[in-house]
Amino acid sequence: MSPQENVRFAAVGDIHCTKESGGSLRGLFAQAAQMADALLLCGDLTDYGLPEETEVLVEELSAARVPVVAVLGNHDYESGREEDVCRILHEAGVRVLDGEACEIHGVGIAGVKGFAGGFGRRTLGAWGEKTIKQFVNEAIQEALKLESALAKLRTSERIALMHYSPIEATVQGEPVEIFSFLGTSRLEDPLLRYPVSAVLHGHAHRGSPEGRTANNIPVYNVAKPLLQRTYPERPPFRIIEVPKSVPETG
Ligand SMILES: [Fe+2]
Ligand SMILES: [Fe+2]
Repeated sequence: MSPQENVRFAAVGDIHCTKESGGSLRGLFAQAAQMADALLLCGDLTDYGLPEETEVLVEELSAARVPVVAVLGNHDYESGREEDVCRILHEAGVRVLDGEACEIHGVGIAGVKGFAGGFGRRTLGAWGEKTIKQFVNEAIQEALKLESALAKLRTSERIALMHYSPIEATVQGEPVEIFSFLGTSRLEDPLLRYPVSAVLHGHAHRGSPEGRTANNIPVYNVAKPLLQRTYPERPPFRIIEVPKSVPETG
């Protein structure tokens, strides 16, 4: 840990590990572990959500000798094998959060995949056909999961980890027609009730790297293709530094 008693997190999303990725991610993970106390993965860990891809990923992750915390992304659900993906990650020591929370060096991490639905006044409402109501309900359930994860944390410093974006600013750069499929303001609501130090997400590969919630919390889009394009001189992850948490009393 850094001498200032800060905790350093390396964050990246949208690794999209394939069966052919063996050997190509080790360097990235080893470098992240050298520069940070823990690694945070913001979903789309695999390309098709296959167990074989996950096996490749955990082999690559063995190069990172620091705690790893992850959420799944939509790609990790593609083959209907998300339970196997989670199990393989779990057996390799990766904490996969799906509406749960954990603590790393005294910093609380709340994680959820999230969902789509649009932003602000354009957020899709639960109205009309049953299918639309089911779609909106999925976003509401993900927001509730995030809220309950945040509510469990008693640490003074917290990080919210998700795949979909809670704000419009970090999907800017994508075609406007798909904004509503890249995240939803419904994920921002819990962050207004339970403020965090930083929000990390992925999914919007062509979005923007930084934005802020309505209560001024920094939001970082750490999709790997976006980081590589925006900061070609840097390693493809973002370092977040958070003061070491002091346990709350009372
Ligand atoms: Fe992705
Ligand atoms: Fe995605």
